[in-house]
Amino acid sequence: MLHYGDLVDQNSLVRALQSIAPDEAYNLAAQSHVKVSFEMPEYTANVTALGVMRLLDAVREAGLKTRVYQAGSSEMFGEVVETPQKETTPFYPRSPYAAAKVYAHWIAVNYRESYGMHVSNGILFNHESPRRGENFVTRKITLGLAAIKHGKAKDLHLGNLDAKRDWGFAGDYVEAMWRMLQQDQPDDYVVATGETWSVKDFLVEAFGYAGLDWQKYVVSDPKFFRPAEVDLLLGDPAKAKARLGWKPAVDFKGLVKMMVDADMARG
Ligand code: GDD
Repeated sequence: MLHYGDLVDQNSLVRALQSIAPDEAYNLAAQSHVKVSFEMPEYTANVTALGVMRLLDAVREAGLKTRVYQAGSSEMFGEVVETPQKETTPFYPRSPYAAAKVYAHWIAVNYRESYGMHVSNGILFNHESPRRGENFVTRKITLGLAAIKHGKAKDLHLGNLDAKRDWGFAGDYVEAMWRMLQQDQPDDYVVATGETWSVKDFLVEAFGYAGLDWQKYVVSDPKFFRPAEVDLLLGDPAKAKARLGWKPAVDFKGLVKMMVDADMARG
């Protein structure tokens, strides 16, 4: 049954939790777009930071034993202090979104320590799939490529092509989230592939797979550059592998092919 609720509406969360009394709750809700967060910093803080506190407090107020998963982000590492990034790497957020996620991370730790709640933070590196939102770079590329291939577009406007990300498959990462809540003890885990690739690498792979030269189609557009950029993310998933018995099944090239195939097939 569908229950209406919103992270900016505390009572709606309490009501939903009281009527469902869930064993597990996965908070994947956020204003999750980094560039948009520079344009809507207050809204981003309200949803992405305070929303987590509201949810945790609603679980506490409802007197439930619900296990909570909080979707943390590798964006918290931002201007990285060490590489690869692991659970102990200090945070250095570079956007209103990342700063909000840092608050969310620490309030989750605080509720765990203060009230003995079973709350785990996943520090997830970029995770993609054919269902990815259209304004994130991987999907924008595969959609743009399909449009070019089908004669519906002539070019593709993008921002910084040099940024490097540790890109994994969302389906694999959901498995890691679930495993966190099956543990006796709550904890925090980096979820990543342990490989990093640039936006340019993604273009080479995607356009190459479709038999096109990306350089003929991609246009650099200042509109898509960010006021502060995260240049390099590379995660160390050793803890998740050891404690959760988790490892990703889909690699970078498999992910690119999956996304290109899906958007090509959509026509
Ligand atoms: N969105 C977008 N659009 N990004 C572009 C573009 C463009 O046209 N051109 C270049 N980029 C670059 C961005 O500057 C960034 O360095 C990189 O591509 C990835 O951008 P996104 O796909 O928007 O993802 P993100 O890394 O900023 O954030 C995603 O991953 C985080 C986990 O690390 C989001 O899913 C976040 O919600 C998530 O927390």
